Amino acid sequence: MVSIRREEPGDRAAVHHVNERAFGRATEANLVDALRAADKALLSLVAVRDNQVIGHILFSPVTIGPGDENFRAAGLAPMAVLPEFQRQGVGSLLIETGLDECRRAGIEGLVVLGHPNYYPRFGFVPASRYGIKCEFGVADEAFMAMELREGAFRNREGTVKYQPEFDQF
Ligand SMILES: CC(C)(COP(=O)(O)OP(=O)(O)OC[C@H]1O[C@@H](n2cnc3c(N)ncnc32)[C@H](O)[C@@H]1OP(=O)(O)O)[C@@H](O)C(=O)NCCC(=O)NCCS
Repeated sequence: MVSIRREEPGDRAAVHHVNERAFGRATEANLVDALRAADKALLSLVAVRDNQVIGHILFSPVTIGPGDENFRAAGLAPMAVLPEFQRQGVGSLLIETGLDECRRAGIEGLVVLGHPNYYPRFGFVPASRYGIKCEFGVADEAFMAMELREGAFRNREGTVKYQPEFDQF
Protein backbone atom coordinates (compact mmCIF):
# COMPACT_ATOMS: atom_id res chain seq x y z
CA MET A 1 0.00 0.00 0.00
CA VAL A 2 1.15 3.51 -0.78
CA SER A 3 0.69 6.33 1.72
CA ILE A 4 1.32 10.04 1.34
CA ARG A 5 2.79 12.14 4.14
CA ARG A 6 4.81 15.30 4.63
CA GLU A 7 8.53 15.05 4.02
CA GLU A 8 10.53 14.63 7.25
CA PRO A 9 14.20 15.49 7.91
CA GLY A 10 15.18 11.81 7.57
CA ASP A 11 13.75 11.67 4.02
CA ARG A 12 16.21 14.07 2.41
CA ALA A 13 18.55 11.55 0.82
CA ALA A 14 15.64 9.43 -0.40
CA VAL A 15 13.88 12.45 -1.92
CA HIS A 16 17.09 13.40 -3.71
CA HIS A 17 17.42 9.84 -5.01
CA VAL A 18 13.79 9.69 -6.24
CA ASN A 19 14.17 12.94 -8.19
CA GLU A 20 17.52 11.93 -9.65
CA ARG A 21 16.21 8.53 -10.79
CA ALA A 22 12.92 9.84 -12.17
CA PHE A 23 14.51 12.65 -14.18
CA GLY A 24 17.69 10.75 -15.04
CA ARG A 25 19.84 13.69 -13.96
CA ALA A 26 20.61 15.64 -10.78
CA THR A 27 19.11 19.01 -11.79
CA GLU A 28 15.69 18.62 -10.14
CA ALA A 29 17.14 16.82 -7.09
CA ASN A 30 19.53 19.74 -6.56
CA LEU A 31 16.70 22.23 -7.03
CA VAL A 32 14.70 20.47 -4.29
CA ASP A 33 17.71 20.63 -1.96
CA ALA A 34 18.22 24.34 -2.71
CA LEU A 35 14.55 25.20 -2.14
CA ARG A 36 14.52 23.30 1.14
CA ALA A 37 17.75 24.93 2.32
CA ALA A 38 16.29 28.38 1.55
CA ASP A 39 13.05 27.45 3.33
CA LYS A 40 11.07 27.97 0.13
CA ALA A 41 9.24 24.65 0.14
CA LEU A 42 5.66 25.57 0.91
CA LEU A 43 4.69 21.91 0.88
CA SER A 44 6.81 18.83 0.30
CA LEU A 45 5.08 15.44 0.29
CA VAL A 46 6.45 11.94 -0.11
CA ALA A 47 4.82 8.70 -1.26
CA VAL A 48 5.88 5.75 0.91
CA ARG A 49 5.57 2.04 0.21
CA ASP A 50 7.01 -0.59 2.59
CA ASN A 51 8.91 2.18 4.40
CA GLN A 52 10.57 3.25 1.15
CA VAL A 53 10.13 6.71 -0.36
CA ILE A 54 9.03 6.08 -3.95
CA GLY A 55 7.61 9.45 -4.92
CA HIS A 56 7.86 13.14 -4.12
CA ILE A 57 6.07 16.41 -4.91
CA LEU A 58 6.96 19.98 -4.00
CA PHE A 59 5.06 23.26 -4.06
CA SER A 60 6.76 26.66 -3.72
CA PRO A 61 5.35 30.19 -3.66
CA VAL A 62 5.14 32.14 -6.93
CA THR A 63 4.14 35.69 -7.77
CA ILE A 64 2.05 36.68 -10.77
CA GLY A 65 2.84 39.92 -12.53
CA PRO A 66 3.56 43.07 -10.60
CA GLY A 67 0.20 42.48 -8.79
CA ASP A 68 -0.93 41.92 -5.26
CA GLU A 69 1.70 40.70 -2.79
CA ASN A 70 -1.00 39.24 -0.60
CA PHE A 71 -2.28 36.93 -3.34
CA ARG A 72 -1.19 33.39 -2.43
CA ALA A 73 -0.23 31.29 -5.43
CA ALA A 74 2.14 28.34 -5.68
CA GLY A 75 3.97 26.38 -8.35
CA LEU A 76 3.88 22.59 -8.46
CA ALA A 77 7.46 21.56 -9.24
CA PRO A 78 9.10 19.22 -9.35
CA MET A 79 7.29 15.94 -8.93
CA ALA A 80 8.84 12.54 -9.37
CA VAL A 81 8.05 8.85 -9.00
CA LEU A 82 10.70 6.12 -9.16
CA PRO A 83 10.59 4.60 -12.68
CA GLU A 84 9.67 1.13 -11.41
CA PHE A 85 6.58 2.55 -9.65
CA GLN A 86 5.33 4.85 -12.43
CA ARG A 87 1.89 4.43 -14.06
CA GLN A 88 0.43 2.90 -10.91
CA GLY A 89 -1.37 6.00 -9.64
CA VAL A 90 1.35 7.20 -7.24
CA GLY A 91 1.75 10.54 -9.02
CA SER A 92 -2.01 11.05 -8.96
CA LEU A 93 -2.14 10.38 -5.21
CA LEU A 94 0.66 12.91 -4.64
CA ILE A 95 -1.12 15.57 -6.69
CA GLU A 96 -4.55 15.01 -5.15
CA THR A 97 -3.14 15.14 -1.61
CA GLY A 98 -1.08 18.20 -2.56
CA LEU A 99 -4.15 20.01 -3.91
CA ASP A 100 -6.07 19.32 -0.70
CA GLU A 101 -3.20 20.48 1.51
CA CYS A 102 -2.63 23.64 -0.52
CA ARG A 103 -6.33 24.49 -0.37
CA ARG A 104 -6.32 23.93 3.37
CA ALA A 105 -3.26 26.19 3.70
CA GLY A 106 -5.12 29.02 1.97
CA ILE A 107 -3.33 28.84 -1.38
CA GLU A 108 -5.68 30.42 -3.92
CA GLY A 109 -4.24 29.11 -7.17
CA LEU A 110 -1.56 26.85 -8.63
CA VAL A 111 0.56 26.78 -11.75
CA VAL A 112 2.48 23.90 -13.26
CA LEU A 113 4.85 23.44 -16.15
CA GLY A 114 4.58 19.92 -17.51
CA HIS A 115 2.96 17.28 -19.70
CA PRO A 116 -0.25 18.79 -21.18
CA ASN A 117 -1.84 15.34 -21.27
CA TYR A 118 -1.26 14.66 -17.57
CA TYR A 119 -2.22 17.68 -15.44
CA PRO A 120 -5.66 18.55 -16.97
CA ARG A 121 -7.15 15.42 -15.36
CA PHE A 122 -6.64 17.13 -11.97
CA GLY A 123 -8.32 20.37 -13.08
CA PHE A 124 -5.42 22.30 -14.60
CA VAL A 125 -6.18 24.34 -17.74
CA PRO A 126 -3.82 26.29 -20.00
CA ALA A 127 -2.65 29.30 -17.96
CA SER A 128 -3.11 31.47 -21.06
CA ARG A 129 -6.86 31.16 -20.45
CA TYR A 130 -6.34 33.50 -17.48
CA GLY A 131 -3.78 35.66 -19.28
CA ILE A 132 -1.08 34.10 -17.11
CA LYS A 133 2.32 33.58 -18.72
CA CYS A 134 5.45 31.68 -17.80
CA GLU A 135 8.75 33.47 -17.27
CA PHE A 136 10.51 30.59 -19.07
CA GLY A 137 9.94 30.28 -22.82
CA VAL A 138 7.65 27.25 -23.03
CA ALA A 139 4.92 25.91 -25.29
CA ASP A 140 1.56 27.47 -24.43
CA GLU A 141 -0.19 24.19 -23.56
CA ALA A 142 2.64 23.07 -21.25
CA PHE A 143 2.06 25.91 -18.78
CA MET A 144 -1.12 25.32 -16.82
CA ALA A 145 -3.03 26.88 -13.96
CA MET A 146 -5.74 25.85 -11.55
CA GLU A 147 -7.88 27.94 -9.24
CA LEU A 148 -8.18 26.50 -5.73
CA ARG A 149 -10.60 29.28 -4.84
CA GLU A 150 -13.21 29.96 -7.51
CA GLY A 151 -12.45 33.16 -9.40
CA ALA A 152 -8.98 33.44 -7.88
CA PHE A 153 -7.28 34.08 -11.22
CA ARG A 154 -9.84 36.61 -12.43
CA ASN A 155 -8.00 39.85 -13.29
CA ARG A 156 -4.64 38.33 -12.35
CA GLU A 157 -3.03 38.58 -15.78
CA GLY A 158 0.74 38.64 -15.70
CA THR A 159 3.93 36.65 -15.79
CA VAL A 160 4.61 34.03 -13.14
CA LYS A 161 7.86 34.41 -11.25
CA TYR A 162 9.17 31.31 -9.52
CA GLN A 163 11.58 31.40 -6.58
CA PRO A 164 15.10 32.54 -7.61
CA GLU A 165 16.42 29.02 -6.95
CA PHE A 166 14.71 27.94 -10.18
CA ASP A 167 17.02 30.24 -12.18
CA GLN A 168 20.13 28.46 -10.90
CA PHE A 169 19.34 25.09 -12.44
C1 LIG B 1 5.14 12.37 -14.24
C2 LIG B 1 5.20 11.36 -13.10
C3 LIG B 1 5.49 12.04 -11.78
C4 LIG B 1 3.82 10.67 -13.04
O1 LIG B 1 3.82 9.76 -11.99
P1 LIG B 1 3.01 8.37 -12.10
O2 LIG B 1 2.99 7.76 -10.75
O3 LIG B 1 3.54 7.57 -13.23
O4 LIG B 1 1.57 8.94 -12.49
P2 LIG B 1 0.18 8.19 -12.43
O5 LIG B 1 0.37 6.71 -12.36
O6 LIG B 1 -0.67 8.86 -11.43
O7 LIG B 1 -0.40 8.61 -13.83
C5 LIG B 1 0.02 7.94 -14.99
C6 LIG B 1 -0.08 8.91 -16.15
O8 LIG B 1 1.02 9.75 -16.15
C7 LIG B 1 1.44 10.00 -17.46
N1 LIG B 1 2.84 9.59 -17.52
C8 LIG B 1 3.49 8.77 -16.68
N2 LIG B 1 4.76 8.67 -17.03
C9 LIG B 1 4.91 9.45 -18.12
C10 LIG B 1 6.01 9.77 -18.94
N3 LIG B 1 7.23 9.26 -18.71
N4 LIG B 1 5.81 10.62 -19.96
C11 LIG B 1 4.59 11.14 -20.20
N5 LIG B 1 3.52 10.87 -19.45
C12 LIG B 1 3.69 10.04 -18.42
C13 LIG B 1 0.61 9.19 -18.38
O9 LIG B 1 -0.34 10.08 -18.94
C14 LIG B 1 -0.08 8.20 -17.47
O10 LIG B 1 -1.37 8.04 -17.85
P3 LIG B 1 -1.79 6.64 -18.50
O11 LIG B 1 -1.38 5.59 -17.51
O12 LIG B 1 -3.27 6.82 -18.64
O13 LIG B 1 -1.05 6.57 -19.78
C15 LIG B 1 6.27 10.27 -13.35
O14 LIG B 1 6.03 9.70 -14.60
C16 LIG B 1 7.70 10.79 -13.33
O15 LIG B 1 8.33 10.83 -12.27
N6 LIG B 1 8.22 11.17 -14.51
C17 LIG B 1 9.60 11.66 -14.63
C18 LIG B 1 9.76 13.01 -14.01
C19 LIG B 1 8.80 14.04 -14.58
O16 LIG B 1 8.65 14.15 -15.80
N7 LIG B 1 8.12 14.80 -13.68
C20 LIG B 1 7.09 15.73 -14.07
C21 LIG B 1 7.58 17.04 -14.50
S1 LIG B 1 7.87 18.12 -13.11
